Amino acid sequence: MRIVVTGGLGFIGSHLIRWILEHQAAVEIINVDALTYAGNLSNLDDVVDDPRYQWHRLSITDRPGLESLFRDHGPIDAVMHLAAESHVDRSIQSGVPFVETNVLGTQILLEVARAFRVSRFLHVSTDEVYGTLGESGYFREDTPLSPNSPYSASKAGSDLLARAAFETYGQDVVVTRCSNNYGPYQFPEKLIPLFVTNGLDGEPWPLYGDGHNVRDWLYVEDHVRALWTVLERGHAGEVYNIGGSNERSNREVANTLISHMGLSQSVIVPVKDRLGHDRRYAMDATKIQKTLGWHPEVSWEQGLELTVQWYRSHRTWWQSIKSGTYKDYYRDQYGSVLD
Ligand code: NAD
Ligand code: DAU
Repeated sequence: MRIVVTGGLGFIGSHLIRWILEHQAAVEIINVDALTYAGNLSNLDDVVDDPRYQWHRLSITDRPGLESLFRDHGPIDAVMHLAAESHVDRSIQSGVPFVETNVLGTQILLEVARAFRVSRFLHVSTDEVYGTLGESGYFREDTPLSPNSPYSASKAGSDLLARAAFETYGQDVVVTRCSNNYGPYQFPEKLIPLFVTNGLDGEPWPLYGDGHNVRDWLYVEDHVRALWTVLERGHAGEVYNIGGSNERSNREVANTLISHMGLSQSVIVPVKDRLGHDRRYAMDATKIQKTLGWHPEVSWEQGLELTVQWYRSHRTWWQSIKSGTYKDYYRDQYGSVLD
């Protein structure tokens, strides 16, 4: 079986590729990744010599490039589509790259996969397409989409284009919507790796607003297993929520990290809130649990321990990111408050 994975040099994509190579002996992987700021070749250092793995530097907006790849390396049995602009705060600075990659790129990829008769297309969407919840309730697969940021609106666009490909052409498409992931190799612009690496560097933690926004956290390997489960056993045209049933406010996350890392409360610095900041995400993942038998396996305590440990022992990985062009983004985003 030959699979194209897009976005395989990013956080979740690199875990997915490593997991597939380790657990699915009969699968070959072609990683299509444009290597944007969020991609990192060293995320897959340990598999580059595997004859079942190859990487092509290619944007999903490059139709001729994709057509050559599907022609020269076919037949392709499945596409697992993760490539995206993924950070909400960057989308607030400018939404254009988000529309280009997430909306246009997804449509081009769907069309190319259809033209080359790919048997299954797994589109990796997100819980953010549902918008925000109040104190109670959960997102279900039939909750209306109501995205609030340029990022989530662009992901909702791609999610609906995937649906349209199934409804219009009968293309075999499955869609997953997962909650917040955490774990090794996550780019340090995201909450948990930002706080952990700042903590290791003696830098403060910028907590947005009142810190009571809630996310449902899932360890990245649990997400990867869910993606494989849906690829193998999901029903065409269906959407599957994936979540950890692990709701935590950002302040709670910060406090737990403080005790794991032996830091003091003074590390937290309240800063101006994110524009349009979604208050609460919480997933009802009953469908994937009951119909496909997937369940999370890594507890929050175990997952955080593994994550903090990984960042402690992989300083070179994150220091090379933090000392590069990321510095300009960090200064723009937090500079005046944290200086
Ligand atoms: P990431 O930002 O770490 O990685 C994105 C990858 O996509 C990078 O390697 C980048 O180089 C590549 N990429 C970007 N634009 C591209 C383009 N035009 N063509 C080809 N490659 C391109 O993202 P992530 O956190 O690993 O998220 C992966 C997917 O999962 C995204 O679709 C995201 O929306 C979704 N998702 C993420 C989370 C989460 O908590 N991180 C949760 C649910 C869903
Ligand atoms: O829910 C799934 C989504 O999770 C994915 O679709 C996105 O790709 C991924 O980036 C993530 O989005 P969030 O906006 O939830 O994640 P982020 O790590 O940016 O922020 C998590 C929470 O922490 C959010 O409430 C904002 C807050 N936060 C974040 C940063 C970066 C802070 O308080 N301070 C910060 O410096």
